[in-house]
Amino acid sequence: MREIRAAVIPSSGHPTVIETLRLADPGPGEVLVRMTSSGVCHSDLHVRDGHWVRPGPIVMGHEGAGAVEAVGLGVDPELVGHAVALSWYAPCLVCRECQRGRQWLCSGSPALQHAQLDGTTRLTRADGTPVLAYLSIGTMASYQVVPATAVVPMPDGVPAEVAALIGCGVSTGVGAVVKTAEVPFGATVAVIGLGGVGLSCVMGAALAGASKIIAVDVNRAKIDLAGELGATNWVLAEPDEPGKTIAAIRASAGDGGPDFVFEAIGNPSTIAQAVGALPPGGTAVLVGLTKYGQQASFEAFPFVDGGRRILGSNYGSAVAAIDFPRYAEAYLAGRLPIDKLIDRRLDLTELEDAFDRLRAGQAARQMVMHPG
Ligand SMILES: NC(=O)c1ccc[n+]([C@@H]2O[C@H](COP(=O)([O-])OP(=O)(O)OC[C@H]3O[C@@H](n4cnc5c(N)ncnc54)[C@H](O)[C@@H]3O)[C@@H](O)[C@H]2O)c1
Ligand SMILES: [Zn+2]
Ligand SMILES: [Zn+2]
Repeated sequence: MREIRAAVIPSSGHPTVIETLRLADPGPGEVLVRMTSSGVCHSDLHVRDGHWVRPGPIVMGHEGAGAVEAVGLGVDPELVGHAVALSWYAPCLVCRECQRGRQWLCSGSPALQHAQLDGTTRLTRADGTPVLAYLSIGTMASYQVVPATAVVPMPDGVPAEVAALIGCGVSTGVGAVVKTAEVPFGATVAVIGLGGVGLSCVMGAALAGASKIIAVDVNRAKIDLAGELGATNWVLAEPDEPGKTIAAIRASAGDGGPDFVFEAIGNPSTIAQAVGALPPGGTAVLVGLTKYGQQASFEAFPFVDGGRRILGSNYGSAVAAIDFPRYAEAYLAGRLPIDKLIDRRLDLTELEDAFDRLRAGQAARQMVMHPG
């Protein structure tokens, strides 16, 4: 047992509070991780703002990296001391989807309970109240106990922040392009919404060899950053004039529109724009997550008549144990400039301020650093 410092929300819709919690030793199939870095993703904000209701109290954060401090029964002791990235969707490895190799659709993931595989948590307050860990990994903490299947060793030389970003934004965005959509060499691509996830779609499109990459956002600074990551064209979106944005994306792509449009916001209007900008045969890939209950619509006749497609992409179709090291190696080889996503480093106590910036659409990726 040890005392840890963590950012906790009492329940969805409430601000984070920094608390001292008790963390029990790892049980069978579990790993104790000293957290080194944790990114602030919009999915944390969806929970913090009550768009998605999660049980509480719960430690925030799901985009993290650390070093293995100890392992429980049945876990390879060689892991101790290794730098690791954490997957936010620890696979159960036995359900039908896991057996089919589609771990991102696992129906038995402990992440669904925000607890360990046996359904219990290793975290308590001093008064004994159990505290959950968001998606089983609650990375906004100095230490965490996580399921062993969430732990992916990183190759030597990968900075902690890069490993953390591979844990969500990078795998989600790059994977949406190279795994979910399998964008072929030479295709034209547009990305609507340039946060950490959309900028990773841009990097993924560059990695795939897209011939045009059109970066679309309301924020000019984001467009500039996308240019550093491989975007070739840009459109400054006008949220009140979706028709104008669609026309600009189409004109920028030529040939009637981009072969692929990635929506990385989770907004019904931009989802409709993603579909609306497609040429016949084009594919819209929905990566952004909406509030619960929201619907998006599009005109059905041209969609069917033009043989268009819509794909939903969860976690960039990630199989963490295979894909995380590949993304890390691509970073080391200079083919995925993941570190360029980082625009701010902060302490756990500044998390609410980081959420304010994210809510205003001003952040690429803000990284909470956990002092060693
Ligand atoms: N599918 C998945 O598995 C998965 C995983 C992680 C995150 N997500 C979701 O992806 C989304 C993006 O996450 P993020 O962390 O990059 O968010 P973010 O808030 O950092 O980025 C959103 C971007 O969209 C831009 N934007 C907002 N409204 C716009 C509009 N009308 N037109 C054009 N641009 C607009 C903002 O300026 C900002 O740059 C969130 O919904 C998040 O929950 C999905
Ligand atoms: Zn995320
Ligand atoms: Zn499973």
